[in-house]
Amino acid sequence: MMNFISVLYLVTAAGASFIPINVSHNVPHYASAAVNPSFLGFAFEETSFVYYGGNKTSPDIASRNLVQVIANKTQARPLIRVGGTSLDHGTFNASQKEAITIPPSEVGSGIPKGIQIGPSFFESFANFPTAQFMLDIPWAEQNLNNSIAFSRAAYRAIGKDRLFAFELGNEPNNYGRFKGGDKREKMESYAKEWAQWTDAIDDAVGVGSSSIWQGVVLSSETGGRTHFPGGTSKDWKIPDLFENGLEQYADRMKSVAMHYYQTQENPNTDIQADLLNHTAVVKGSEFIRKAVKYLRNPKRNIPVYLAEVGNTLGNGTKYIQLEGSLGSALWQIDFSLYAMSIGVTGVNIQCGTKFPFSLWRPNINHTHGEVLPAFYSHIFSAEFMGSSGNTRVTNIDLDSPFLSSYAAYENGSIARVAIINLRQSDGSLSENDAVRVALSVGDDVKTAEVKKLSSPNGAAATAETISFDGTQWVYEDPRTEKKVKKYTKSSLSINGGTVDLEVKSSEAVIVYLE
Ligand SMILES: *[C@@H]1O[C@H](CO)[C@@H](O)[C@H](O)[C@H]1NC(C)=O
Ligand SMILES: *[C@@H]1O[C@H](CO)[C@@H](O)[C@H](O)[C@H]1NC(C)=O
Ligand SMILES: *[C@@H]1O[C@H](CO)[C@@H](O)[C@H](O)[C@H]1NC(C)=O
Ligand SMILES: *[C@@H]1O[C@H](CO)[C@@H](O)[C@H](O)[C@H]1NC(C)=O
Ligand SMILES: *[C@@H]1O[C@H](CO)[C@@H](O)[C@H](O)[C@H]1NC(C)=O
Ligand SMILES: *[C@@H]1O[C@H](CO)[C@@H](O)[C@H](O)[C@H]1NC(C)=O
Ligand SMILES: *[C@@H]1O[C@H](CO)[C@@H](O)[C@H](O)[C@H]1NC(C)=O
Ligand SMILES: *[C@@H]1O[C@H](CO)[C@@H](O)[C@H](O)[C@H]1NC(C)=O
Ligand SMILES: *[C@@H]1O[C@H](CO)[C@@H](O)[C@H](O)[C@H]1NC(C)=O
Repeated sequence: MMNFISVLYLVTAAGASFIPINVSHNVPHYASAAVNPSFLGFAFEETSFVYYGGNKTSPDIASRNLVQVIANKTQARPLIRVGGTSLDHGTFNASQKEAITIPPSEVGSGIPKGIQIGPSFFESFANFPTAQFMLDIPWAEQNLNNSIAFSRAAYRAIGKDRLFAFELGNEPNNYGRFKGGDKREKMESYAKEWAQWTDAIDDAVGVGSSSIWQGVVLSSETGGRTHFPGGTSKDWKIPDLFENGLEQYADRMKSVAMHYYQTQENPNTDIQADLLNHTAVVKGSEFIRKAVKYLRNPKRNIPVYLAEVGNTLGNGTKYIQLEGSLGSALWQIDFSLYAMSIGVTGVNIQCGTKFPFSLWRPNINHTHGEVLPAFYSHIFSAEFMGSSGNTRVTNIDLDSPFLSSYAAYENGSIARVAIINLRQSDGSLSENDAVRVALSVGDDVKTAEVKKLSSPNGAAATAETISFDGTQWVYEDPRTEKKVKKYTKSSLSINGGTVDLEVKSSEAVIVYLE
């Protein structure tokens, strides 16, 4: 990524200082390729999916609508990943009536082990009629016959057209049998077992010659000693895996999945340092950028999906203000737009009944569902992407941890600019608590309008007070959208090819240019 401009302060006649953001009118050569319209995806933890999807007799219509709100904005087919650790340690039970049963000792856990999955589990998929699915298949416990039975039932129930890809296992780099010892040997034995299993499942299911596998499903490595994505050189990396056995099976991979969690929950966590920090997003994404670069070449050209993304690894019982707030939604915007700019093909935001960083919580028994702050990030990113299907994105590097900016080009010309002010605000600061930006857009732009994502309560705000463009989304059927403020997008004046605007601390804006 070129360092297009760096932060320097311009001083106007009035003496106020502005941060200049220089946007090139025509799409720069280093911009991303056209962003996949289905980029903004969804991921559901296995046992939680029963609540998000519901079943034939009581489907969760509000969840269906919330998925469709995002898909409508980008005119895309939603892409949903279902699975994770709970699936990976579960078994299929063809004679079980219930969708999922959980061992008594695991009830209440956000990621229960030893679950049994019955055929009625697949009813939940019908709740998302326009979606395609990435479906995880159990591998950790090495019960091939059972995984074959699961794959067959899934393939039949979901249908060929709706199955985007199968994944084998979840974060196999964390399996005991692949850890420790000689890393190269472990990678080779991993590739061998992966090939045997995918062969056997392909045969049993009868997929023919189509490449139906989403490879690897690599963990984020945030949980290790570093508490930072990408781990250390001891952890598996995508290029190493291909060079130690996986390359020969590349033709059966439709895509490769990696997971991403920005930080690990701990009592000393500071949201400003760990999440509201563009430097941390860029640095944390480095192992992803390298994987994308490695896989995107004429020889392979395999797209990378971040099929499980969340802000904070942890148990979700504490520090909710960190994981489920306007602040964490702003992190998610910065991360999603950065992922677009480095050529990632999609992000699936992880949702579960116990995860505060979920997009929303569904109805759970007698508890009514609610939209969570992370959903506003998806709304914002969808608006930034637009629906043209040919949007290309650049990260405008401002050389600052606190201010982040991206440009969206359509048909080769600038269409939108996103500016995210990552400074933590408690909502009580004065009007001056804002960055003043001089957005230089050139003479070909005739109109500029702005929409804002904000809350009067600042970074700690929960969804009740967050709005985008004066609109809120609620967990209801059929109306999810609610106008809460009079103002909607407002015009900005353009003087000498420059638009001046303010972006408050813990606020993100989109400037629409024509
Ligand atoms: C903005 O970019 C244009 C085109 O690259 C360049 O001509 C101009 O000098 C830049 N302006 C500033 C303030 O950096
Ligand atoms: C369908 O969902 C409802 C509501 O959660 C539940 O009461 C019912 O038992 C479920 N049916 C099946 C077959 O799981
Ligand atoms: C999505 O768009 C379709 C077609 O315009 C419309 O019928 C539907 O109500 C929209 N769904 C939501 C949840 O906004
Ligand atoms: C599978 O489900 C049936 C029906 O609930 C149950 O009787 C049986 O014990 C289960 N199988 C296993 C291996 O637990
Ligand atoms: C798996 O299934 C095959 C064929 O149905 C059978 O021969 C084999 O014994 C089974 N293996 C296990 C471990 O159940
Ligand atoms: C932002 O993150 C970087 C990289 O992790 C770190 O070095 C820096 O101290 C953080 N900045 C702030 C303001 O906390
Ligand atoms: C969650 O984390 C807190 C703080 O670290 C700890 O006290 C608690 O036991 C954990 N709960 C679970 C269910 O793991
Ligand atoms: C919902 O209620 C059922 C039946 O009492 C229980 O088994 C299940 O654990 C509950 N689900 C959650 C997520 O609390
Ligand atoms: C981009 O080009 C396509 C195809 O030529 C056209 O349909 C679309 O309206 C254009 N979009 C914009 C924003 O100019």
